[in-house]
Amino acid sequence: MTRVHNFSAGPGVLPESVLQQCQEAIWEFSGSGLGLLETSHRSPPFEAVIQSAVARLGRLLGVSETHEILFLTGGASAQFYMVPMNLLRQGRATYLETGTWSTKAIREARRFGQIDVPFTSTERVPGPTEWGDVPPGTAYLHYTSNNTIMGTEYHHLPRTDVPLVVDASSNMLSRPWPDAAHDILYAGAQKNLGPAGVTVVAIRRELLDACDPELPTLLRYPVHAEKDSMFNTPPTFPIFVVERVCAWIEEQGGLPAIGARNDQKAQKLYQILDGSEFWQGKASPDSRSRMNITFSTGDPALDTRLHTAAAKEGLSGLKGHRSVGGLRASIYNACPPEAVDALADFMTTFERTHG
Ligand SMILES: Cc1ncc(COP(=O)(O)O)c(C=O)c1O
Repeated sequence: MTRVHNFSAGPGVLPESVLQQCQEAIWEFSGSGLGLLETSHRSPPFEAVIQSAVARLGRLLGVSETHEILFLTGGASAQFYMVPMNLLRQGRATYLETGTWSTKAIREARRFGQIDVPFTSTERVPGPTEWGDVPPGTAYLHYTSNNTIMGTEYHHLPRTDVPLVVDASSNMLSRPWPDAAHDILYAGAQKNLGPAGVTVVAIRRELLDACDPELPTLLRYPVHAEKDSMFNTPPTFPIFVVERVCAWIEEQGGLPAIGARNDQKAQKLYQILDGSEFWQGKASPDSRSRMNITFSTGDPALDTRLHTAAAKEGLSGLKGHRSVGGLRASIYNACPPEAVDALADFMTTFERTHG
């Protein structure tokens, strides 16, 4: 069976060279005679992996000097409650609501304090200060940098005086971005960073002192920071893959090169959507995602025909999220330009035959 082009929203496509290194490491790892899955997290070979993963992520995000990098579990969804549990302490926070995942983050945060939601839209993201001032006493501002389901993305940093928290699950490390301006960045790995099973969290060191000390141990950021993500057994294999993906990003020329390539890929598909009445793009043009291109033919039956026919031609994962329907092409870092070219050709032919 040959591999097909993968447009899945996540778990998503990974670099082929990384997959090959995974195959080898599962069998035998670092000259130890043991496979990676059978290797202790306290062994020197794995310690080297996690230290390298921290160093590479710190370098790529530009936060080595300022933030602790943690490898946690429970997905980005666990961060929806860990952030407010640690920082809210019955106070208030502001959330920008730009689609399903931010709505879920808001729902969890409301269990722990007052949540102000001054902006809501599923078609676009707000301008840098569009929501106005946050109320006095606001502990932090939370936003979702890329809305995986809606296909919208911030192209500017939200401006605020309070600590800034971002769910960057579907666009972390996809472009040069002022990551260091955030106090907490978190991402489930399974889109741009690696496989499902690990969540990357970068938290500003000074913020650790503000975290609630009364929480259960496993929910406290300072505990994970102090124990170098080894308070309990961390997800060793996903961390290995994240380390290899970061090495791959650095080999590609780092975020400037990755970002330029991602821009070109997205541009190619948006040009098709803009080029004819046949297609309907779902996101407002100034908020379009470079990671998840959401669109439709306007006819649900025709959309189904498209993703079914595409799958038969080796273009997998184009069905839109079940909550919104339509079509979605997820073109994360590791999605090669050739895959996007193949999709563009397919769309052009589909339009010719069905338009
Ligand atoms: C932006 C965003 N946030 C959060 C999540 C939830 O992540 P997880 O499944 O790792 O909990 C997702 C999943 O797709 C996502 O795209």
